[in-house]
This record gives sequence, structure tokens and C-alpha cells, in this order.
Amino acid sequence: MESPSRGGVFSEGTDSRVEQFAESISFDRRLYQHDIRGSQAHARMLADQGLITDAECESICGALDEIRLELDNGTLPMRIELEDIHMHVEQALIDRLGDVGRKLHTARSRNDQVSTDFRMWVREALRETDQLLLELQRAFLGRCEADFDVILPAYTHLQRAQPVLAPHYWLAYVEKFQRDRERIADCIKRVNQCSLGVAAVAGTSLPIDRQQTAAALDFDGITRNSLDTSSDRDFVLESAFVLSVIATHLSGWAEEWILWSTVEYGFIKCPHAFCTGSSIMPQKVNPDVLELTRGKSARVMGNLQTLVLLTKGLPLAYNRDLQEDKPPLFDSFDTIQSCLQLAAPLVAGTELQRERIAAGIEDGYLDATTLMEHMIRAGMPQRRAHHLVGAIVGEAMQRRVSLSELPLDVLQQHAPELDGSVREVLGSRNAIEAFQSEGSTAPERVREQIQYWTTALGDKG
Ligand code: ARG
Repeated sequence: MESPSRGGVFSEGTDSRVEQFAESISFDRRLYQHDIRGSQAHARMLADQGLITDAECESICGALDEIRLELDNGTLPMRIELEDIHMHVEQALIDRLGDVGRKLHTARSRNDQVSTDFRMWVREALRETDQLLLELQRAFLGRCEADFDVILPAYTHLQRAQPVLAPHYWLAYVEKFQRDRERIADCIKRVNQCSLGVAAVAGTSLPIDRQQTAAALDFDGITRNSLDTSSDRDFVLESAFVLSVIATHLSGWAEEWILWSTVEYGFIKCPHAFCTGSSIMPQKVNPDVLELTRGKSARVMGNLQTLVLLTKGLPLAYNRDLQEDKPPLFDSFDTIQSCLQLAAPLVAGTELQRERIAAGIEDGYLDATTLMEHMIRAGMPQRRAHHLVGAIVGEAMQRRVSLSELPLDVLQQHAPELDGSVREVLGSRNAIEAFQSEGSTAPERVREQIQYWTTALGDKG
């Protein structure tokens, strides 16, 4: 069968090797629902504009419903010579309706068709991703009350730095995923502009109504410049970037929890349902879900790179290269969604090793900075206080004790200004209580933030 797009200008059929090489039906089949919805909206607009009759529109829309069912059931035969999903649907329509089917492609090109289909698919995938991010945020938030009294070390340079409340950690991730959700919302604004009616590149001389199809397909508006639109894949790049940032957040979190689940850290125990064993070492419980989350992030970042390279250096407007944009973006969405689907239950089901954490929480002089600030509050210049606390920590290290275990007279040898009130800031618990600033780990502040997020994330929806 000859493809509907090969007109009389061709003197021979397509080489079968070219058909193999150029097909996209193997992956753009995924757009079929959007393609059919777009075609039905287009047919109604054509009828309203008098370009086809109402009866023709009814037959086209009815036949498209049947074709959708066949695609749902997998009974529509896939033919490589039909290249892509657009031609499969159109040919199936022509097979049913003959010349009436041949009218659907009036004032339309596959160039605006594929862009419209993909925009609809992408906006849906972005919304699903947003919902999965919300569920992950809720999983972190859901731990905050129960873990409120647990103090963990905060690290910089992966060296112990200052004490923080466990919920401060959980809410740090809620913040990161919130920014991801904001990026999604912003990205959707540009994704959700309708390209239909741009036709191949310059628009059409036929009296179409682009606003009507845009509204019927729930777009926020129409794209302005046909030449730009025919070439534009910014919405694909942006989505791939948004997904890459999510990947960096997931990967960093996974790395942290892999470390935390080691014997060396001993902070957490992942649910066994999310771990695997070793075929040779019977004692092993490996955090594979976290490792794969870290590992799969590479694919998402690689896909962004692929898409940036794909679209650089293309002259206006549509070029067939653009067909290659779908596999990487599909893969990025699939990968991120599969990671997010496991992340939420993993976060909810992980246990803090409270005793292990508490046993080590006075290691690493997490209260040194708070001691310095205590001296600053009493009027000492910061640089001097910093120097003196450094010397006090050095002395404590030599004696193999914590700061709170140093006798007052030893502290006073270093800083005669100190008195008994210093005890109020020494030790991780006291250091936590001493914090004040907005955004800090002060229990008051963390409470406020839990309250804020509880309201912001709601129960549902
Ligand atoms: N399968 C094509 C794609 O994904 C559809 C557009 C084809 N347009 C064309 N002028 N050959 O880009």
C-alpha cells in the first residue's frame, strides 16, 4: 500500500530499508489518544468553518472513536510503511470512509499535528509527575512529627558540622521537590500553547479557526508565529531539564540514604521489601532501590544532553531530526516516574536507628559553633571567639572528651570570660535549643515549618 503522504511526484516506491530507518510508529504509538483527540477537534472546526459538512464531521469523529478502540485493544495492524501514528490513524480512517476520510488532513500538516499531540502528551506527563512529587513530599512531611525529637548531624564537605532536628532534614527535601513542582507549573505554561493550524510552516490560506481547536483541546492559547512553531521544541528541552533537576534531587537523596544505611553511619534501616540480598554473602541487605534511583538519574541527564544536541543547529523550520525527540523524553518521564513511585513508600517505611544516632550525636563537636556564638553574644569579636573555640576543641580532642565534658576551669584557661552559663549551649540538644534564626533548625522554627507544609500540601489533591 502506498503511503497517503506520497503524491504523484514520486516515480518509485520507498526502499524498504528506508521505511525501517525512518519509521517512528514503534515509539510514537504512545501518542494515539492525543492524535485522535486532536483530529476530532480539527474535524469539528473544519465543519464549523464550512470546510467539510456536519455529516462528514460526524462520520470522521465516529470512525476515529472506533479506531481509538482498535488501538486500545491492539487490534489495529501496525504497518511500517505508514511511518508514524498520524498516518496509521489517517489511513485507518480512509480505509473506513474513503474520500470523506481524505478530507481530515485539510489545513493541517503532520508538522503541526505532531507538535500538538506531543504538547498534549507532555502536559499530562508533567501533571502526573507533579502528583508523584506531591506524594513524595507528603511522605517526608508525614515523618516529621514522629521523628521530631531525633537529632542528626548536619554535614558540610561530608564532615560533621552542626546538629539539626530530623524533620529539618525531611523538610529540606520537601523544599527541593517544591521547587521542582514550581518548575513544572512554569514549564506547563509554555507547553500548553496550541500549535495546531500552523500547518507545515507558513499557516494556511483556508479559513480555519485556531482559537476553537485550542479551546477544544484545553490549551491556554495558540502559538503566535507559524515559522517558529513548526521548528519549536523548547517545550521538550524544558521538560527534559525539569526532569533532570528532579533526577539530581533524587540521586543526591539516594546517595545520602545509601551512606546512612551503612554500618559506618547506622542512621537508617530501609524496609526489607525495598532491599535485595547477595547470592554469596548471607548477611547482606543491599539498598538496591536507592542505588538504582541514583543510577537511573544518569539516563535522565543523558536524555537532556541528547535533546540539546538534537535541536542545536537546525535551520527553521520543521526538520525530520525532530522525530528523534520522543524516545529520550518518553524515557526521562518513565524513569523519573518509576523512581518517584518507589521513593514515597521507601521514605515512609524507613526506620531511624534512634539508639545508634543518639550514641554518636556528641561526636564531631557539633556544638562548637554554638559555643562560639555564645561568646559573641557576651561581646567577644567573632574572629577571636572562633580562634578560642578552635583551641578548646583541640584540647577536647586531646583529652578524647566532648566540649560539655571539659571542666569549666579548662574552658576558662582558654577564655576567661566564660562562666557557668556556657553549659546551656553545650551538647547537641542544648545547641539545638539555642538556635533562633528564621529557616534554622530551632525547634520553634521547625514546628512553624511543619505547620506551613501541612497546610500547603493538604491532605489530598
Ligand atoms: N513522524 C514525524 C515526526 O515525528 C511526523 C512529522 C513528519 N513531517 C514531515 N514533514 N515528514 O516528526
